[in-house]
Amino acid sequence: MSPSIPIPLIDPFQRRVKDLRLSVTDRCNFRCVYCMPEEGMKWLPREELLSFEELTRIARVCVAHFGFEGIRITGGEPTVRAHLPVLVGMLSQLGADLAMTSNGVKLPEMVDDLARAGLRRINISLDTLRPDTFLALTRRAELPRVIAGIDASLAAGLSPVKINAVVMRGINDEEVVDLAAFGRDRGVELRFIEFMPLDASGEWTREQVVSQQEIVDRISAVFPLVPRHRPGAGHQEPAELFDYEDGRGAIGVIPSVTNPFCGNCDRVRVTAEGQFRTCLFSIDEFDLRTVMRTGGTDDDLAAEISRAVGTKWAGHSIGQVNFIRPKRSMSQIGG
Ligand code: GTP
Ligand code: 5AD
Ligand code: SF4
Repeated sequence: MSPSIPIPLIDPFQRRVKDLRLSVTDRCNFRCVYCMPEEGMKWLPREELLSFEELTRIARVCVAHFGFEGIRITGGEPTVRAHLPVLVGMLSQLGADLAMTSNGVKLPEMVDDLARAGLRRINISLDTLRPDTFLALTRRAELPRVIAGIDASLAAGLSPVKINAVVMRGINDEEVVDLAAFGRDRGVELRFIEFMPLDASGEWTREQVVSQQEIVDRISAVFPLVPRHRPGAGHQEPAELFDYEDGRGAIGVIPSVTNPFCGNCDRVRVTAEGQFRTCLFSIDEFDLRTVMRTGGTDDDLAAEISRAVGTKWAGHSIGQVNFIRPKRSMSQIGG
Protein backbone atom coordinates (compact mmCIF):
# COMPACT_ATOMS: atom_id res chain seq x y z
CA MET A 1 0.00 0.00 0.00
CA SER A 2 1.19 3.52 -0.74
CA PRO A 3 1.14 6.00 2.13
CA SER A 4 -1.41 8.80 1.62
CA ILE A 5 1.36 11.41 1.91
CA PRO A 6 4.87 10.58 0.65
CA ILE A 7 7.52 10.61 3.34
CA PRO A 8 10.76 12.29 2.20
CA LEU A 9 13.74 10.00 2.08
CA ILE A 10 16.69 11.53 3.92
CA ASP A 11 20.16 10.02 3.76
CA PRO A 12 22.68 9.87 6.63
CA PHE A 13 24.14 13.23 5.55
CA GLN A 14 20.76 15.02 5.66
CA ARG A 15 20.40 15.15 1.90
CA ARG A 16 16.90 14.53 0.55
CA VAL A 17 16.93 11.80 -2.09
CA LYS A 18 14.41 12.57 -4.82
CA ASP A 19 15.88 11.77 -8.20
CA LEU A 20 15.77 8.26 -9.69
CA ARG A 21 17.97 7.22 -12.57
CA LEU A 22 16.59 4.11 -14.19
CA SER A 23 18.79 2.13 -16.55
CA VAL A 24 16.67 0.28 -19.08
CA THR A 25 19.43 -1.65 -20.84
CA ASP A 26 23.15 -2.29 -20.50
CA ARG A 27 23.55 -2.42 -24.29
CA CYS A 28 24.75 0.31 -26.55
CA ASN A 29 25.14 0.91 -30.28
CA PHE A 30 28.32 2.98 -29.64
CA ARG A 31 31.60 1.98 -28.00
CA CYS A 32 32.85 5.24 -26.50
CA VAL A 33 36.44 4.84 -25.38
CA TYR A 34 35.69 6.43 -21.98
CA CYS A 35 32.98 3.86 -21.32
CA MET A 36 33.33 0.54 -23.16
CA PRO A 37 35.95 -1.65 -24.77
CA GLU A 38 35.73 -2.13 -28.54
CA GLU A 39 34.78 -5.78 -28.27
CA GLY A 40 33.94 -8.36 -25.70
CA MET A 41 31.18 -6.67 -23.69
CA LYS A 42 28.95 -9.34 -22.15
CA TRP A 43 25.31 -8.29 -22.29
CA LEU A 44 22.68 -9.30 -19.81
CA PRO A 45 20.32 -11.98 -21.05
CA ARG A 46 16.74 -10.77 -21.62
CA GLU A 47 15.28 -12.47 -18.54
CA GLU A 48 17.74 -10.67 -16.28
CA LEU A 49 16.46 -7.27 -17.37
CA LEU A 50 13.64 -5.65 -15.47
CA SER A 51 10.38 -5.66 -17.42
CA PHE A 52 8.59 -2.38 -18.14
CA GLU A 53 6.16 -3.29 -15.35
CA GLU A 54 9.01 -3.84 -12.88
CA LEU A 55 10.75 -0.60 -13.86
CA THR A 56 7.51 1.32 -13.52
CA ARG A 57 6.78 -0.32 -10.20
CA ILE A 58 10.08 0.83 -8.70
CA ALA A 59 9.51 4.33 -10.03
CA ARG A 60 5.96 4.37 -8.67
CA VAL A 61 7.15 3.33 -5.22
CA CYS A 62 9.79 6.08 -5.26
CA VAL A 63 7.20 8.70 -6.21
CA ALA A 64 4.31 7.47 -4.04
CA HIS A 65 6.25 6.50 -0.92
CA PHE A 66 9.05 9.02 -0.99
CA GLY A 67 7.88 11.92 -3.16
CA PHE A 68 10.61 11.58 -5.79
CA GLU A 69 10.39 14.51 -8.21
CA GLY A 70 12.52 13.36 -11.13
CA ILE A 71 12.96 10.18 -13.14
CA ARG A 72 15.72 9.91 -15.73
CA ILE A 73 15.85 7.02 -18.19
CA THR A 74 19.44 5.93 -18.87
CA GLY A 75 21.34 2.98 -20.34
CA GLY A 76 23.69 1.74 -21.85
CA GLU A 77 21.85 3.53 -24.60
CA PRO A 78 18.16 3.62 -23.67
CA THR A 79 16.90 3.89 -27.25
CA VAL A 80 18.15 0.39 -28.08
CA ARG A 81 15.58 -1.09 -25.69
CA ALA A 82 12.65 -2.28 -27.82
CA HIS A 83 9.37 -0.37 -27.49
CA LEU A 84 10.90 2.40 -25.37
CA PRO A 85 8.00 4.82 -26.05
CA VAL A 86 5.70 2.32 -24.29
CA LEU A 87 7.82 2.57 -21.14
CA VAL A 88 7.94 6.36 -21.44
CA GLY A 89 4.14 6.34 -21.60
CA MET A 90 3.96 4.23 -18.43
CA LEU A 91 6.47 6.36 -16.50
CA SER A 92 4.91 9.62 -17.61
CA GLN A 93 1.72 8.69 -15.73
CA LEU A 94 3.55 8.97 -12.41
CA GLY A 95 3.63 12.76 -12.43
CA ALA A 96 7.40 13.15 -11.93
CA ASP A 97 9.60 15.17 -14.27
CA LEU A 98 10.60 12.62 -16.92
CA ALA A 99 13.96 12.96 -18.67
CA MET A 100 16.37 10.79 -20.65
CA THR A 101 20.09 10.65 -21.41
CA SER A 102 20.98 9.35 -24.89
CA ASN A 103 23.79 9.19 -27.41
CA GLY A 104 21.33 10.64 -29.90
CA VAL A 105 21.89 8.37 -32.87
CA LYS A 106 18.39 6.85 -32.94
CA LEU A 107 16.60 10.07 -32.09
CA PRO A 108 15.93 11.25 -35.67
CA GLU A 109 13.40 8.43 -36.09
CA MET A 110 12.29 8.05 -32.47
CA VAL A 111 12.12 11.34 -30.68
CA ASP A 112 8.66 12.34 -31.88
CA ASP A 113 7.22 9.12 -30.42
CA LEU A 114 9.10 9.68 -27.16
CA ALA A 115 7.85 13.26 -26.85
CA ARG A 116 4.28 12.19 -27.62
CA ALA A 117 4.55 9.48 -24.94
CA GLY A 118 5.44 12.11 -22.34
CA LEU A 119 9.21 12.62 -22.36
CA ARG A 120 9.94 16.23 -21.41
CA ARG A 121 13.70 16.74 -21.38
CA ILE A 122 16.76 15.15 -22.94
CA ASN A 123 20.54 15.19 -22.53
CA ILE A 124 22.48 14.07 -25.61
CA SER A 125 26.18 13.18 -25.77
CA LEU A 126 28.31 14.98 -28.34
CA ASP A 127 32.01 15.13 -27.54
CA THR A 128 33.36 16.43 -30.84
CA LEU A 129 32.35 18.11 -34.09
CA ARG A 130 35.12 16.46 -36.11
CA PRO A 131 34.16 13.26 -37.96
CA ASP A 132 37.57 11.63 -37.43
CA THR A 133 37.60 12.38 -33.71
CA PHE A 134 33.99 11.21 -33.46
CA LEU A 135 34.99 7.90 -35.02
CA ALA A 136 37.98 7.57 -32.71
CA LEU A 137 35.92 8.38 -29.61
CA THR A 138 32.71 6.44 -30.25
CA ARG A 139 34.12 3.91 -32.73
CA ARG A 140 31.13 4.71 -34.97
CA ALA A 141 30.89 7.08 -37.95
CA GLU A 142 27.61 8.62 -36.86
CA LEU A 143 28.33 12.30 -36.27
CA PRO A 144 25.71 13.58 -38.77
CA ARG A 145 22.98 11.41 -37.27
CA VAL A 146 23.74 12.57 -33.73
CA ILE A 147 23.53 16.21 -34.85
CA ALA A 148 20.27 15.35 -36.63
CA GLY A 149 19.09 13.76 -33.36
CA ILE A 150 19.81 16.99 -31.47
CA ASP A 151 17.90 19.02 -34.05
CA ALA A 152 15.01 16.53 -34.06
CA SER A 153 14.79 16.76 -30.26
CA LEU A 154 14.56 20.54 -30.45
CA ALA A 155 11.94 20.28 -33.20
CA ALA A 156 9.94 17.79 -31.11
CA GLY A 157 9.68 20.42 -28.39
CA LEU A 158 11.78 18.71 -25.72
CA SER A 159 12.99 21.35 -23.32
CA PRO A 160 15.63 21.76 -22.28
CA VAL A 161 17.86 19.85 -24.69
CA LYS A 162 21.35 19.71 -23.16
CA ILE A 163 24.54 18.41 -24.74
CA ASN A 164 27.07 16.38 -22.72
CA ALA A 165 30.71 16.47 -23.81
CA VAL A 166 33.27 14.43 -21.88
CA VAL A 167 36.57 16.30 -22.25
CA MET A 168 39.73 14.22 -22.57
CA ARG A 169 43.21 15.66 -22.82
CA GLY A 170 44.80 15.14 -26.23
CA ILE A 171 41.55 13.92 -27.77
CA ASN A 172 38.98 16.69 -27.80
CA ASP A 173 40.26 19.36 -25.41
CA GLU A 174 41.15 21.61 -28.35
CA GLU A 175 37.48 21.66 -29.29
CA VAL A 176 35.84 23.14 -26.23
CA VAL A 177 35.45 26.56 -27.87
CA ASP A 178 33.99 25.04 -31.07
CA LEU A 179 31.54 22.99 -28.99
CA ALA A 180 30.58 26.08 -27.02
CA ALA A 181 29.96 27.92 -30.30
CA PHE A 182 27.79 25.02 -31.50
CA GLY A 183 25.67 25.37 -28.34
CA ARG A 184 25.40 29.14 -28.74
CA ASP A 185 24.26 28.76 -32.36
CA ARG A 186 21.56 26.26 -31.50
CA GLY A 187 20.49 27.84 -28.23
CA VAL A 188 21.33 24.70 -26.23
CA GLU A 189 23.37 24.34 -23.06
CA LEU A 190 26.69 22.60 -23.64
CA ARG A 191 27.85 20.71 -20.54
CA PHE A 192 31.50 19.83 -20.34
CA ILE A 193 32.20 16.77 -18.18
CA GLU A 194 35.47 15.97 -16.46
CA PHE A 195 36.56 12.46 -17.45
CA MET A 196 35.93 10.05 -14.57
CA PRO A 197 37.52 6.67 -13.76
CA LEU A 198 34.55 4.69 -15.04
CA ASP A 199 35.97 3.53 -18.35
CA ALA A 200 35.79 -0.21 -18.88
CA SER A 201 39.45 -0.49 -19.81
CA GLY A 202 40.67 0.94 -16.51
CA GLU A 203 43.11 3.22 -18.30
CA TRP A 204 41.94 6.46 -16.65
CA THR A 205 44.72 8.70 -15.44
CA ARG A 206 44.55 12.08 -13.74
CA GLU A 207 46.59 13.58 -16.61
CA GLN A 208 43.73 12.94 -19.05
CA VAL A 209 41.31 15.01 -16.98
CA VAL A 210 40.77 18.56 -18.19
CA SER A 211 39.65 20.61 -15.20
CA GLN A 212 36.65 22.89 -14.91
CA GLN A 213 39.02 25.82 -14.50
CA GLU A 214 40.82 25.09 -17.74
CA ILE A 215 37.57 24.53 -19.66
CA VAL A 216 36.07 27.79 -18.42
CA ASP A 217 39.29 29.73 -19.07
CA ARG A 218 39.54 28.47 -22.63
CA ILE A 219 35.95 29.34 -23.48
CA SER A 220 35.98 32.60 -21.61
CA ALA A 221 38.99 33.79 -23.62
CA VAL A 222 36.76 33.77 -26.71
CA PHE A 223 33.24 34.11 -25.30
CA PRO A 224 33.47 35.75 -21.86
CA LEU A 225 31.59 33.87 -19.13
CA VAL A 226 30.27 34.81 -15.71
CA PRO A 227 29.51 32.24 -13.00
CA ARG A 228 25.83 32.06 -12.20
CA HIS A 229 25.06 32.70 -8.58
CA ARG A 230 21.92 30.97 -7.62
CA PRO A 231 19.79 31.90 -4.67
CA GLY A 232 19.52 29.52 -1.73
CA ALA A 233 21.83 26.81 -0.53
CA GLY A 234 23.52 24.48 -2.96
CA HIS A 235 22.20 23.25 -6.26
CA GLN A 236 20.98 19.81 -7.11
CA GLU A 237 22.39 19.20 -10.49
CA PRO A 238 25.97 18.17 -10.99
CA ALA A 239 26.70 21.02 -13.40
CA GLU A 240 28.13 24.38 -12.38
CA LEU A 241 26.56 27.00 -14.65
CA PHE A 242 28.23 29.92 -16.39
CA ASP A 243 26.35 32.54 -18.42
CA TYR A 244 27.76 34.21 -21.50
CA GLU A 245 28.37 37.86 -20.77
CA ASP A 246 26.68 38.79 -24.05
CA GLY A 247 23.46 37.08 -22.94
CA ARG A 248 23.62 34.32 -25.55
CA GLY A 249 22.92 31.39 -23.25
CA ALA A 250 24.99 29.40 -20.80
CA ILE A 251 27.33 26.45 -20.41
CA GLY A 252 27.57 23.90 -17.64
CA VAL A 253 30.65 22.14 -16.35
CA ILE A 254 30.37 18.87 -14.45
CA PRO A 255 33.53 18.87 -12.33
CA SER A 256 33.15 15.35 -10.95
CA VAL A 257 36.89 15.07 -10.33
CA THR A 258 38.06 18.54 -9.27
CA ASN A 259 34.90 19.77 -7.51
CA PRO A 260 32.28 17.02 -7.11
CA PHE A 261 28.71 17.94 -6.34
CA CYS A 262 28.34 15.09 -3.84
CA GLY A 263 27.38 17.47 -1.02
CA ASN A 264 24.14 18.28 -2.82
CA CYS A 265 23.52 14.89 -4.38
CA ASP A 266 19.82 13.94 -4.45
CA ARG A 267 20.02 10.88 -6.68
CA VAL A 268 19.96 7.12 -6.64
CA ARG A 269 20.17 4.65 -9.49
CA VAL A 270 18.73 1.31 -10.56
CA THR A 271 20.70 -0.84 -12.98
CA ALA A 272 19.02 -2.61 -15.89
CA GLU A 273 18.84 -5.82 -13.84
CA GLY A 274 17.29 -4.14 -10.84
CA GLN A 275 20.25 -3.45 -8.57
CA PHE A 276 19.75 -0.30 -6.52
CA ARG A 277 22.86 1.91 -6.14
CA THR A 278 23.13 5.01 -3.99
CA CYS A 279 26.14 6.43 -5.85
CA LEU A 280 27.81 6.11 -9.26
CA PHE A 281 30.80 4.84 -7.34
CA SER A 282 28.98 2.52 -4.93
CA ILE A 283 30.50 -0.81 -4.10
CA ASP A 284 27.28 -2.19 -2.57
CA GLU A 285 24.08 -2.89 -4.46
CA PHE A 286 20.61 -3.74 -3.21
CA ASP A 287 18.70 -6.34 -5.17
CA LEU A 288 15.24 -4.95 -5.92
CA ARG A 289 14.60 -7.52 -8.63
CA THR A 290 14.69 -10.38 -6.16
CA VAL A 291 12.35 -8.49 -3.82
CA MET A 292 9.88 -8.17 -6.70
CA ARG A 293 10.32 -11.64 -8.16
CA THR A 294 9.86 -13.38 -4.81
CA GLY A 295 6.48 -11.80 -4.17
CA GLY A 296 7.57 -8.73 -2.19
CA THR A 297 4.98 -6.02 -1.66
CA ASP A 298 5.41 -2.33 -2.46
CA ASP A 299 6.10 -1.80 1.25
CA ASP A 300 8.88 -4.39 1.06
CA LEU A 301 10.35 -2.55 -1.93
CA ALA A 302 10.11 0.77 -0.10
CA ALA A 303 11.79 -0.76 2.95
CA GLU A 304 14.69 -2.07 0.85
CA ILE A 305 15.10 1.33 -0.85
CA SER A 306 15.07 3.03 2.52
CA ARG A 307 17.64 0.58 3.88
CA ALA A 308 19.88 1.23 0.88
CA VAL A 309 19.64 5.00 1.25
CA GLY A 310 20.69 4.55 4.86
CA THR A 311 24.09 3.50 3.50
CA LYS A 312 24.56 6.41 1.07
CA TRP A 313 28.05 7.83 1.26
CA ALA A 314 29.00 11.44 1.80
CA GLY A 315 30.75 11.31 -1.54
CA HIS A 316 33.20 9.53 -3.76
CA SER A 317 36.91 9.93 -3.28
CA ILE A 318 38.32 9.96 -6.80
CA GLY A 319 42.00 10.71 -6.68
CA GLN A 320 42.41 9.82 -3.01
CA VAL A 321 44.19 6.74 -1.75
CA ASN A 322 41.01 5.14 -0.44
CA PHE A 323 39.22 5.35 -3.83
CA ILE A 324 37.99 1.97 -5.09
CA ARG A 325 36.86 1.74 -8.71
CA PRO A 326 33.41 0.25 -9.05
CA LYS A 327 33.41 -3.10 -10.85
CA ARG A 328 30.97 -1.78 -13.41
CA SER A 329 31.61 0.73 -16.19
CA MET A 330 29.31 3.68 -16.84
CA SER A 331 27.18 1.75 -19.35
CA GLN A 332 26.50 -0.98 -16.81
CA ILE A 333 25.62 1.46 -14.04
CA GLY A 334 23.54 3.76 -16.20
CA GLY A 335 25.23 7.12 -16.65
P1 GTP B 1 20.38 17.21 -15.33
O1 GTP B 1 19.27 16.93 -14.41
O2 GTP B 1 19.92 17.64 -16.68
O3 GTP B 1 21.44 18.10 -14.79
O4 GTP B 1 21.02 15.80 -15.62
P2 GTP B 1 22.38 15.10 -15.21
O5 GTP B 1 23.51 15.94 -15.55
O6 GTP B 1 22.25 14.62 -13.86
O7 GTP B 1 22.31 13.82 -16.16
P3 GTP B 1 23.20 13.20 -17.30
O8 GTP B 1 22.70 11.82 -17.47
O9 GTP B 1 23.20 14.05 -18.50
O10 GTP B 1 24.62 13.13 -16.68
C1 GTP B 1 25.68 13.88 -17.14
C2 GTP B 1 26.92 13.60 -16.37
O11 GTP B 1 26.73 13.99 -15.02
C3 GTP B 1 27.32 12.16 -16.28
O12 GTP B 1 28.08 11.81 -17.35
C4 GTP B 1 28.19 12.19 -15.09
O13 GTP B 1 29.47 12.63 -15.49
C5 GTP B 1 27.58 13.25 -14.22
N1 GTP B 1 26.79 12.64 -13.17
C6 GTP B 1 25.49 12.28 -13.21
N2 GTP B 1 25.11 11.74 -12.05
C7 GTP B 1 26.19 11.78 -11.24
C8 GTP B 1 26.44 11.34 -9.91
O14 GTP B 1 25.58 10.82 -9.21
N3 GTP B 1 27.68 11.54 -9.43
C9 GTP B 1 28.65 12.11 -10.17
N4 GTP B 1 29.85 12.28 -9.63
N5 GTP B 1 28.47 12.51 -11.42
C10 GTP B 1 27.26 12.35 -11.96
N1 5AD C 1 33.59 9.98 -17.40
C1 5AD C 1 32.69 10.98 -17.53
N2 5AD C 1 31.52 10.84 -18.16
C2 5AD C 1 31.25 9.67 -18.72
N3 5AD C 1 30.18 9.24 -19.44
C3 5AD C 1 30.38 7.94 -19.76
N4 5AD C 1 31.56 7.50 -19.28
C4 5AD C 1 32.12 8.57 -18.63
C5 5AD C 1 33.34 8.77 -17.93
N5 5AD C 1 34.25 7.78 -17.80
C6 5AD C 1 29.04 10.10 -19.79
C7 5AD C 1 28.55 10.05 -21.20
C8 5AD C 1 27.14 10.55 -21.08
C9 5AD C 1 26.76 10.22 -19.67
C10 5AD C 1 25.64 9.27 -19.57
O1 5AD C 1 27.92 9.67 -19.08
O2 5AD C 1 29.23 10.88 -22.07
O3 5AD C 1 27.06 11.94 -21.25
FE1 SF4 D 1 27.21 3.99 -25.23
FE2 SF4 D 1 26.94 6.15 -23.66
FE3 SF4 D 1 28.81 4.30 -23.11
FE4 SF4 D 1 29.07 5.85 -25.29
S1 SF4 D 1 29.04 6.54 -23.13
S2 SF4 D 1 29.38 3.60 -25.20
S3 SF4 D 1 27.01 6.12 -25.95
S4 SF4 D 1 26.63 3.99 -23.03
